[in-house]
Amino acid sequence: MKETRNFVLRGNICYSLDPTTLETIEAGYLVCEDGTSAGVYRELPEQYAGWPLKDFGDRLIIPGLTDLHLHAPQYGFRGLGMDLELLEWLNTRTFPEEAKYGDLEYARRGYTIFAGNMKRSATTRACIFATIHRESTVMLMDLMEETGLKTMVGKVNMDRNSPDILIEESAEASARDTLAWLEQIHGRYENTRPILTPRFIPSCTDELMGRLKEIQRDFDLPVQSHLSENQGEIAWVKELCPWSEFYGDAYDHFGLFGGGVDTVMAHCVWPSEAEIARMKERGVYVAHCPQSNTNLSSGIAPVRTYLDQGMNIGLGTDVAGGTGESVFRAMADAIQVSKLRWRLTDDRLKPLTVQEAFYLGTKGGGAFFGKVGSFEPGYELDAVVLDDAELQHPQELDLAERLERLIYLSDDRHIAGKFVAGRRIF
Ligand code: GUN
Ligand code: FE
Repeated sequence: MKETRNFVLRGNICYSLDPTTLETIEAGYLVCEDGTSAGVYRELPEQYAGWPLKDFGDRLIIPGLTDLHLHAPQYGFRGLGMDLELLEWLNTRTFPEEAKYGDLEYARRGYTIFAGNMKRSATTRACIFATIHRESTVMLMDLMEETGLKTMVGKVNMDRNSPDILIEESAEASARDTLAWLEQIHGRYENTRPILTPRFIPSCTDELMGRLKEIQRDFDLPVQSHLSENQGEIAWVKELCPWSEFYGDAYDHFGLFGGGVDTVMAHCVWPSEAEIARMKERGVYVAHCPQSNTNLSSGIAPVRTYLDQGMNIGLGTDVAGGTGESVFRAMADAIQVSKLRWRLTDDRLKPLTVQEAFYLGTKGGGAFFGKVGSFEPGYELDAVVLDDAELQHPQELDLAERLERLIYLSDDRHIAGKFVAGRRIF
């Protein structure tokens, strides 16, 4: 199809309106006008009759998936070291590997593989951690820009409790390098945006957090970090910030916790009631990372509570806490761990349904990027075309069932096309 952002896609269309409502239209028409959805129709309205039409036949067309949390430099050791808990895993596996991204040759090899696989995935939007290294972070941003995905990428800040091989000299040096990074990439990208990335409270001094707030304000940047992932981590934050009411309060104290600052916090497995209330009040996004929380024995986040409270929530793969970049896998994992939480810890919190998990991986997380993750009119047109012919079976399945099966069984081989904001990527 030639490069035009006015076109029509035909196929079996599935998208969420809200957590419990999945729309399915067989042999429907999805109209893209200037990169944005102009609606889904059973019959093509006359005004679009002459527009270029791509017929995907019996394939499914769904919104692009959003990964609200993953670490590009950890891609190289995914599937390794899964016998450790968070703090030990960071020290023995993660920090030594991330330290290698000070070497641009190594970074190019690692980030090229990462970007290539992200391009081939069903993900169209992602919030990505790089490392503390400015030059290789810019390299990652250049590579992500080329994929056509729309991503937010952060140079990580770390000025305490980190090994000599992966630490910034001082709060001042960390802030200075962050400013240099922002200057270096200013005006450089169409698809790629910077996101402020204090790694987590244990690795950032109060002085650094104060300086990052100034940068956040001056550049109107979004923020990503980690929150209440592991009980040892939470106890440590209490020691480091004795003045904080709870972990999230340590971010909020510095104005880096929603409330006019677009903020996404990964995990949120062990929130207190006060923390939930503050996240809700401030509109903080939860990046629910069920596979990582299982691999690192962190626990099971109270996703049902977050949904019941109408909070902002989406899914993250958290590579390499999670072993791969599939957000479909994150949907299945979210359903499965919610069942375990329900059965083992609290039978008042009902497990997630397939519709809810699909919503989280599309419209729920997509909202962090604006009107993204649905096909309702006005949404940016991110779409993934799925070919499930190989998964078919003699029994008749309706569209919702075919989607359910793809969530559990699909991999890259079933992805037949991808569009981001009306541009075809493959
Ligand atoms: N907390 C601080 N850094 C990390 C990280 O790299 N991964 C995870 N899962 N949690 C963290
Ligand atoms: Fe993480």
